[in-house]
Amino acid sequence: MTEGREIKITGMKSILGIGNALTDILAILPDDSLLRKYHLPLGSMQHVDKETGDLIWQDLKEIGVKYVPGGSAANTITCCAIFGMRSGYIGKIGNDELGNLFKSTMEQFGVKTTMLYDAKGSGRCMVFITGANAERTFASYMGAALEMGPDDLKPEYFQGYDYFHIEGYLVQNQELIARAVQMAKAAGCIISIDMASYNVVESNGAFLHNLVEKYVDIVFANETESKAFTKLDDPREALAELSSICKIAVVKVGKDGSWARNGEQEIFIPAWPAVPVDGTGAGDTYAAGFLYAHSLGLPLKECAEVGSIIAAKVVEVVGTKIDIPRWRVAKEEIKQLIEKSKGC
Ligand SMILES: Nc1ncnc2c1ncn2[C@@H]1O[C@H](COP(=O)(O)OP(=O)(O)OP(=O)(O)O)[C@@H](O)[C@H]1O
Ligand SMILES: [Mg+2]
Repeated sequence: MTEGREIKITGMKSILGIGNALTDILAILPDDSLLRKYHLPLGSMQHVDKETGDLIWQDLKEIGVKYVPGGSAANTITCCAIFGMRSGYIGKIGNDELGNLFKSTMEQFGVKTTMLYDAKGSGRCMVFITGANAERTFASYMGAALEMGPDDLKPEYFQGYDYFHIEGYLVQNQELIARAVQMAKAAGCIISIDMASYNVVESNGAFLHNLVEKYVDIVFANETESKAFTKLDDPREALAELSSICKIAVVKVGKDGSWARNGEQEIFIPAWPAVPVDGTGAGDTYAAGFLYAHSLGLPLKECAEVGSIIAAKVVEVVGTKIDIPRWRVAKEEIKQLIEKSKGC
């Protein structure tokens, strides 16, 4: 990718992310016979063991599959790399075909990977696309990703980074996150977390509260996550509550836009205009835009605006990767925004 270099600014800050290193394996199926074979209810998300995961993968391969390496933090970090930030990623994979693909794809985007390995095999999410409405049914095998633990981390992994970004899905592994944030703080990183999903928040409430209060500088939550965290229905009230325990809080409300708060300063940014086709990746991409703008020292409003601009591009494409023409448009829109903010 070369487009990341277009608006490279001297002294660009760096970001490290940590997450579940997962690859989506997508297949468009002629009928629902494979769903029946593996007892997968249409539209459901099921966890499967390695044996079943391998059998499914084999069956899907015969039909024809598309591989899309990702996971929430990996998506955010890749996007930061395309913006031109020096970017790194820590995740655990198997020493296998999917793991190699994950690592090399991240590296193609300019991300410095610190991959850890486990015999369980690389994590994957198999996506069955069926019917005229392209309905999606998921079978995921977390594999090596779930084996990442606190002892895998070394202080030197964090050295030299300005930001450390955590995906909320990892919070289920509390010891890992506790060690990671300690190392990131010791390395002087600004710490951000994306809360990932309301059930992650519900099942790790006390741990997350403590984490945000003690370590986190920037929190990203959507409406349901902010509600699960604060027990407040109104996103604005939830925002105020969240921002009382960290420096910057962001509550995203989908096509209605986003709220951000830093101390007493509160802003609302409507969604950037888009023709949405698939919402996948909106949150991950928003976080990347916000953090990139923050790393440039832009004010809160511009951070949320850059997040909104880039998120509006990902909702226009199927999947999590913005195409090159849309990256160009986004970079032009962001450049104009930055110039306006500087008053030139
Ligand atoms: N239809 C849309 N049109 C334009 N922008 C959108 C649209 N949907 C989402 N966005 C932008 O993306 C941001 C994040 O979306 P959302 O609130 O859905 O986050 P999320 O639930 O974390 O997303 P994800 O499902 O990817 O985790 C919104 O605040 C908005 O700026
Ligand atoms: Mg999200």
